[in-house]
Amino acid sequence: MLKFKNGKFRIMQVSDPQDLQYIRPTMVRMLNMAYDSLKPDLIVLTGDNILGNHLCDARIGSRLVIKDKAGEAAAMKTAIDKLLVHIDERNIPFAMIYGNHDDRNRLTKEEQADFYRAYSGNIGLDGTDSGDCDTYNVPIYSEDGEKVKFNLWMLDSAWHDKEEDKCYEYVKPQAIEWYRKKSAELKEANGGEPVPSLMFQHIPMIEILELVEECSKDAEGAVPGPDNKYYKLKPQVGGVMGEYPCTVSEKNGQLDAIKECGDVKAVVFGHDHTNCFEGVVDGVNFVQSSCASFRCYGTKSRGVRIFDIDEQTGEYETTFHTYNAICGSSLADELRYIWDADGMLKQKIALIAGVAAGAGLLTFGAVKGVKKLLKK
Ligand SMILES: [Fe+2]
Repeated sequence: MLKFKNGKFRIMQVSDPQDLQYIRPTMVRMLNMAYDSLKPDLIVLTGDNILGNHLCDARIGSRLVIKDKAGEAAAMKTAIDKLLVHIDERNIPFAMIYGNHDDRNRLTKEEQADFYRAYSGNIGLDGTDSGDCDTYNVPIYSEDGEKVKFNLWMLDSAWHDKEEDKCYEYVKPQAIEWYRKKSAELKEANGGEPVPSLMFQHIPMIEILELVEECSKDAEGAVPGPDNKYYKLKPQVGGVMGEYPCTVSEKNGQLDAIKECGDVKAVVFGHDHTNCFEGVVDGVNFVQSSCASFRCYGTKSRGVRIFDIDEQTGEYETTFHTYNAICGSSLADELRYIWDADGMLKQKIALIAGVAAGAGLLTFGAVKGVKKLLKK
């Protein structure tokens, strides 16, 4: 049972760690330092927890190294273990949802869920009445365990239509119905007052596009859109947009349901690795968080997000903690980042060239020194 302590509860969102069996050490180091310094009461993994569709790409010549479902399952378990073992060592509870990269392979979400459930810190993944194992809610109780004071909605937005190979979509209508029903139950048990909540899902709702506006190519913060136009965040939106939001394809009534239930303090998304901002859409707070992954595209906004919940008010404060804020900015920290992060090819080449040049100079100096000695 999750409980407030001294009226506070801290959630850490880790989105898109998106790695393989051979996890990037600098991401692990960043996450471990974040766990130890920020001390969350709960970690929320908001999808693309592994790079599930590339687990089995390894080949020898033209022959795939992993050929069957059993091999795929073993690779997947290793990738998940490499992420979770550090959370487990610290006895931090965690809740998770899937992203579009997690289950693009032969295992079903339900089969994959068992790898998470094997950890005692796993909370949830029990969405038996919602239609998806990763659509469920996480109640947070008062310190005496008597009352639900806050709630988390974990919603699947990553269902994979294997027939159409469509790998991300809106939250299903049955999940929205489940949310309405469950929200009403919580409200009734709370004396008729909605239980303040955060709603997590991987793929942004399409309404997030209301936070951006068209601009010139040269405008500060401009990113290309899908229609050969350029866009930036509206002035009232706080944060950075490194890419045009990649959303679900259509409105699904979710925003209406949220407004009617009146319990959601913010809807929180991952998915777009370089977006990290907060804004208000139709009276509902939208929050998007950058990725943690070093294996996939990203920027120095790689990091984790914190939500501090206040038991009395039911309100939250959120802060985003980047790689440099967590790990520091020493030369060693920068070299680690360059070495491990995708998108740093030029810097990697410069680093290798610098090391090679340094080694060359040292060798040259040493040879010259030896020659001098021999002449004597
Ligand atoms: Fe994603």
